[in-house]
Order: sequence, then C-alpha cells, then structure tokens
Amino acid sequence: MKAALLEALPFLPRHRARSKRASQLSLDDILDDRRASGELAGGVLDLVLMAYRYRAPFELAWREFSGKSLRPAELEDLLQILFGALLSRDRTPGPVLVSEAVEATRQAFGPAACGLVNAFGRKTLATKDAWLAKLEADPLLALPAALRERWSAHPAILARSARQLLRRPEAGIWSFDAGGSFAKREATAFREEGRLQAIDPGSWDLLGWILERVRANPPPAGAWLDACAAPGGKLLGLLARGTVPADAELHATDAKFRRVERLRENLARWGSETRVRTSLHAWGDAKADRSDELPARFAFALADLPCSGSGTLHTRPDLLDLDWAERMISTLDLQKRILAEVRDRVAPGGALFVSLCSVDPVEVDHVSGLLGRAPDFSSWDRREETCEGLTAWHVTNSR
Ligand SMILES: C[S@@+](CC[C@H](N)C(=O)[O-])C[C@H]1O[C@@H](n2cnc3c(N)ncnc32)[C@H](O)[C@@H]1O
Repeated sequence: MKAALLEALPFLPRHRARSKRASQLSLDDILDDRRASGELAGGVLDLVLMAYRYRAPFELAWREFSGKSLRPAELEDLLQILFGALLSRDRTPGPVLVSEAVEATRQAFGPAACGLVNAFGRKTLATKDAWLAKLEADPLLALPAALRERWSAHPAILARSARQLLRRPEAGIWSFDAGGSFAKREATAFREEGRLQAIDPGSWDLLGWILERVRANPPPAGAWLDACAAPGGKLLGLLARGTVPADAELHATDAKFRRVERLRENLARWGSETRVRTSLHAWGDAKADRSDELPARFAFALADLPCSGSGTLHTRPDLLDLDWAERMISTLDLQKRILAEVRDRVAPGGALFVSLCSVDPVEVDHVSGLLGRAPDFSSWDRREETCEGLTAWHVTNSR
C-alpha cells in the first residue's frame, strides 16, 4: 500500500503543477502516458481517482481540522489521497491505510510531516461514518461551488453527478466480452481476462439503442466510420454487439497520436486490428497535418464528440476544478467544426449518430442547434442507477 500511495502522488494537482508537461495535460493524458509505458496498477488508479472525486469534502475536512497552508504544499496531495481512500474503501482496514500513509510521508517528505498525517488520518477515521452519513444526506457536498452554481437550475443533473462521484470503486466493474455479454465483474476478474472491456451501463445502453436504430433503418452499403474513436470502447461495443455488417469497410480515426496508439492496442487485444483501419485524423481542422486516405463518403458515421466531460466526472474527476465557462468556448467551437465535416461525408441515405458524454444544458442545446433537432437518447433518462450521462442524436442524410 505504501508503494501504491507513493506511485499515486505524481498524479495529484500540486505534484503536477511542478512539471510543465503534467500541468498542461489532462489527468487522462498523463494516465495514458503511464499506461503506455507500463502497467498502471489498478490500485493506484483507484487511489488517484478517489482522491480527486472526494476533493470537495476533503477541503471541508481539512478546513475543520486545521485549514493552515502546508509546507511543502505537495503534502496536501498525500492528505487528499488518504482522505479519498479512507472514505471510499472498506476492504483495506483504515488503521492500516493510515500507518501506510505515515510511512509514505516519511519516505516522500521526511519524518517532520509524519505526525500531522497520522493525526489527520486518525481524525478522518474517527469521523468516517459521520462523513458518509453527511454525504448520503447531502450528496451535493461532493461538487465544487462553481459547478453547483452553473447547474443551479438543474437539480437532477446536480444530484446524479454528485452520486456518480461518490460511487465506490469496490462495487465491481461493468464490462462486456467479444461475444457481447454484459455483466458486472470483480476488478480482479476484469484484469485477468484480456478480452473484457470495461464500459459504463449508460454507454452500453447507447450501443443497444444504436443497434436498434440500425436494424430498423439499415444504412446503405458502404464504409463505416467511428470519427472520434479512441480509446475504442464504443467501437469494440459496436463490434461485440454485431452492429457493423461483416462486409463493411470499417474506419476509426482520432486526432491524438497517443490515443490512436491506445485504440490500436485495444483493437489488437480484441483480435480486431485487421478488421478496423485506424488513422490519425483531426476532423474540422483544415490546418492539421493528415493524409486523408479515407473514403469520400460513409454509409454510417459515429461522432462521439470531445466534450466538457460533465457526464463522466467519475472517470475524469480532475475536470471538477476547471473553469467551465472558459472551457466551454473552445469545446463548442471544436464540436461545431467536427460535426460540419463529418456530416458532409455521410452518404445520401446514410446514418449519422452523434453522442456526447455531457449533460451540461448549454452543450446539449448547442449540438441540438447544430443538428436541428432535440436529442433522441439520454442514458440518464433510462436508468435509475447512476451511470454515464450520455446524450445522443440520430440523423439520416436525406440529401
Ligand atoms: C469522447 S472521446 C471518444 C471516446 C471513444 N469513442 C470511446 O468510446 O472510447 C472523444 C475523442 O475525440 C478525439 N478528438 C478530439 N478532437 C478531434 C478531432 N478534431 N477529430 C477527431 N477526433 C478528435 C479525442 O482525442 C478523444 O479521443
């Protein structure tokens, strides 16, 4: 556990701020770097995600405990990891976690900081049940003030987002296999079996909805495209569910080199590396360096747009700290450019599916405006259980 705590530290905000590269990249990107350079142990990933997910309650707890600024400032990262782990884990005994965190502190920051970490850990442990009860009664405590303000007119979005953040990683992992069977599995089973792909129930529902639509309204013969495909979860799902006709030429593109690599690795794990033609391609970016060897028209295109990520805060909890209004400006522009170009490449009678991991009303309205119709699908409308907040549209090219 001490090793995992030390391994998790560089992913936390104050450690990231010390590195020019890590401070400019998203958490997802730096986790990708690590996944590419070797196995990132699942336990480390959980520590990182839960530290970010419990950030707002951690700040309240720290203020109650002391509120003083720390020296070195990076010590706060360790306290944040410890708080998230203590609140979200039941299988590792709390006292063990605290003493391992003290040992990690000794190694990373020297003996002077150990007393403080021990005292904060013991206090958190003593108040864990009270904290969990408080969060159960008022889940919105998990959200930063700026987001509560932004969505103040949308209590259902606030409540679901907060509950999503507080979901326990120990509860198991939803995944599907190459045969299309979908089930919740133990994390260990998931890690041992290469041909399993983790997916959120909301995304699985989306794939089922696409399959229904395609069956009811088969696209004409021709090539298929997943335009924003990496790391490939939805693409593998389309294949596993048998949505793509066996004789259709299938293309998958993404604008980021590292992510295309990850997509290729995932396809290879699935045995589909020859079935799908992958390429680096930035849609809607006339200046991008790309060799467009893609077909001129597609019978089917899926544009799983890059977005604010407001529907997937549990997997990208670093987004909680961003300036949403500022981020939205560049995101909306990118979505507009991608959609314009992808839509142009859909063949007459072809199907365009557009999806968004976002529940932010500004973003959803923006895409609705561009497509000229309201969304046809929302995962949050379909399931009681908290899951990825996905919105999607289905447009047939009638030209
Ligand atoms: C929501 S994610 C896709 C997730 C993926 N469909 C899956 O299910 O695993 C959006 C993706 O769009 C990519 N992207 C961003 N700008 C793009 C562009 N201009 N053209 C193509 N892909 C882009 C990002 O790198 C990111 O991988």
